[in-house]
Amino acid sequence: MSRKDILKSAEEFAKQRMAGFDSGHDWYHIERVRRLAVYINTKENLCDPFTLEIAVLLHDTADSKFNKDDQDNGYKILKEFMLRAGLNEIIDQVMNAIKNVSFSNKKSYGDANDPLLLVLQDADRLDAIGAIGIARAFNYGGFRNNPIYVPADLAGRHTPSTIGHFYDKLLKLKDLMKTNTGKRLAEERHLFLENYLNQFYTDWEFGI
Ligand code: ADP
Ligand code: NI
Repeated sequence: MSRKDILKSAEEFAKQRMAGFDSGHDWYHIERVRRLAVYINTKENLCDPFTLEIAVLLHDTADSKFNKDDQDNGYKILKEFMLRAGLNEIIDQVMNAIKNVSFSNKKSYGDANDPLLLVLQDADRLDAIGAIGIARAFNYGGFRNNPIYVPADLAGRHTPSTIGHFYDKLLKLKDLMKTNTGKRLAEERHLFLENYLNQFYTDWEFGI
């Protein structure tokens, strides 16, 4: 298969594997992350562009939040796809990047500093902040039937809420960016989160 055909079949595989996911993890997420990752790598030349596109296309196909089957089975299906597509040479590197990116930086596995992982991770995280990130967070919160905001709970925050998720994760992402381009792009998106929260509390507390 030519590289063009392999990319096409990876697109088809991702679309099919992600069909049941929430719309924050749909095909458009992959397209956005692809544009971000390609942009970062064009600026900084950190990893092989073809391997990067493959990693972006496949990065959410084994997400445990959406896999009816367990995550290991998701990885197994992914590996089988890569073997069928003749991607033997890059399997280990791509699997390493995908496993690390989906662990949301808690557990690290294998090489946590591979440039492929750093570019993929920055691009994926950029899509979790800014205007798109806010849309995705509320969409995911709705998918989980979580409350938007639980004011009395802010101190201890035991009840999951989408505003709570801003503090748990979204506001931290700017400082976790690894590439210079990722850091630069995160600034404006981070500021948008802060402005959004200010407006949210102003509207919420109206008249108090
Ligand atoms: P990652 O891409 O690091 O694996 P996730 O898959 O956990 O991140 O999250 C994907 C999207 O869903 C992100 O935009 C994230 O902010 C959002 N999300 C995840 N958990 C929650 C939550 N508890 N409440 C609201 N949004 C969430
Ligand atoms: Ni993703």
